[in-house]
Amino acid sequence: MAGVYIHIPFCKQACHYCNFHFSTTFEKYRSELVATLAQEMKLKSELFKGKEVETIYFGGGTPSLLIEEEFMTIFNGLKESFNIGKVVEVTIEANPDDVTVENLAIWQSYGINRISLGVQSFFEDDLEQMNRSHSSEQAHNAIKRIKESGIDNYSVDFMFALPLLSNEQLEKNLQLAIDYKVPHISCYNLTIKEQTALMTLIKKGKIEDLSEEKSIQQFKIVMNRLGSNRYHQYEISNYALEGYQSMHNSSYWYQKPYLGIGPAAHSFYNSKRAFNISNNSEYIKLVGEGKDYFEVEELTEKEFFNEFVMTRLRTSKGLDRRDLEILFPKFVDAFKEKTSNYLRGGQLAFFGDEYRLTPEGKLMADYIASEFFEV
Ligand SMILES: C[S@@+](CC[C@H](N)C(=O)[O-])C[C@H]1O[C@@H](n2cnc3c(N)ncnc32)[C@H](O)[C@@H]1O
Ligand code: SF4
Repeated sequence: MAGVYIHIPFCKQACHYCNFHFSTTFEKYRSELVATLAQEMKLKSELFKGKEVETIYFGGGTPSLLIEEEFMTIFNGLKESFNIGKVVEVTIEANPDDVTVENLAIWQSYGINRISLGVQSFFEDDLEQMNRSHSSEQAHNAIKRIKESGIDNYSVDFMFALPLLSNEQLEKNLQLAIDYKVPHISCYNLTIKEQTALMTLIKKGKIEDLSEEKSIQQFKIVMNRLGSNRYHQYEISNYALEGYQSMHNSSYWYQKPYLGIGPAAHSFYNSKRAFNISNNSEYIKLVGEGKDYFEVEELTEKEFFNEFVMTRLRTSKGLDRRDLEILFPKFVDAFKEKTSNYLRGGQLAFFGDEYRLTPEGKLMADYIASEFFEV
C-alpha cells in the first residue's frame, strides 16, 4: 500500500492555536505554487515507480480553497507521475465555509470520495476565541450538504480542552455529530504550540492557561460518549463507525510508504524520511530550478523502533509481539522488561499477541510509549 499527501499551504485566516504550515497572503502566487506541485510530482515519480497508489490526501492549510482549474493541474500531475488507476480513498480537508454545493460537485468530479471537515466546536464562543473563519451554522450546513451530496465517507474534527468549552458543551458537540450519524470523528486535545497567537494570548493572561485536569476529564468524556455510541477508537484521536476507518492515516501508523508533495510536506520511503522546505516562495524557486528543496534523514534502527512503539501503541490493535520480534529482535528483552511495570499497574494489557493501552493508559499514551524508547 502506498499513499500520496498533498499539502496546500493556504488559509483565509490564521486560527490562534495552529502552527501547521500555511500563508494567508497567497493570492499572488497561488497558481505558480499549484503548478510547482505538479512539477514536484514528476521529480518524485521515480520513488513510486511500479507502486500502486491507493490513497491520496489533500491536507493543509486549507485545500478546500482550491478552485477547479487548480484541481485539474494537480490531478493531471498525479496521473502523469503516479500509478493512480486503483486508488481507493481520496480525502480532502475542508473548512465548513468552503463546503458549497458547487465545490462538492467539483470534488466529486475529480474522484474525491472522503471529506475531513474541521468543525472544532459547534459553539460560537469557541470559534471566535480561536479565530476560526466560519460560524456554527456554516458547520451544520456543511454536514447537511455533504450528506446530500452522496459522499458517505466523511469525518468531523473536534478539539477538546478548549478554554471556554465546558464538559456539558463537549457532550453536546459529540451528541450533535452522533445524531448526524457522522461516520468518523477525530477529537484532538488542544495543545499550545510554539509561535502561535494562542501561546502569546495565554502568556499575556488574555486567555486562561490550559488545565491538565480538564484535558483528562474531557478525554474521558470523548472516549465514553463515542464508545457507547458504536464508535471504535481505532487510534487515540480517531473514532469510526464500522467500515469508516481512514486508510490514509492508518498507513502513517503502520509505517507504510507515502510521498508528501508541497511545502512542508513529509515523505517516508525505504526507511528514509524527507522534509520539504516550509517556505512557499523558496519551494517554488528551488523546485523550479531543480535544486534541493528537501532534507533527507535516514532513520537509525533506534529511531525506527521508537516510532514503531509510539505509533503502534496509539492504535487499538496495539503493538504485536511477533512484529516486534521480527523487526527489532535486539530490543525485545529491554522492551519486555520496561513494560512489566505498566502491565502490573493496569495501564497496559497483553491480549493474545498484542500489547495494548488500557483506557487508563490512553490518558498518558505518549508518556508511556516514551518510557519504552531506546535512547
Ligand atoms: C491539518 S489541521 C487543519 C485542517 C483544516 N485546515 C481545518 O482547520 O479544519 C487538522 C486538525 O488538526 C487539529 N489541530 C490543529 N492544531 C491543533 C492544536 N494546536 N491542538 C489540537 N488540535 C489541533 C484541528 O482539529 C484540525 O482540524
Ligand atoms: S487550523 Fe486549518 S484553517 Fe486554521 S490556520 Fe490551521 S490549517 Fe488553517
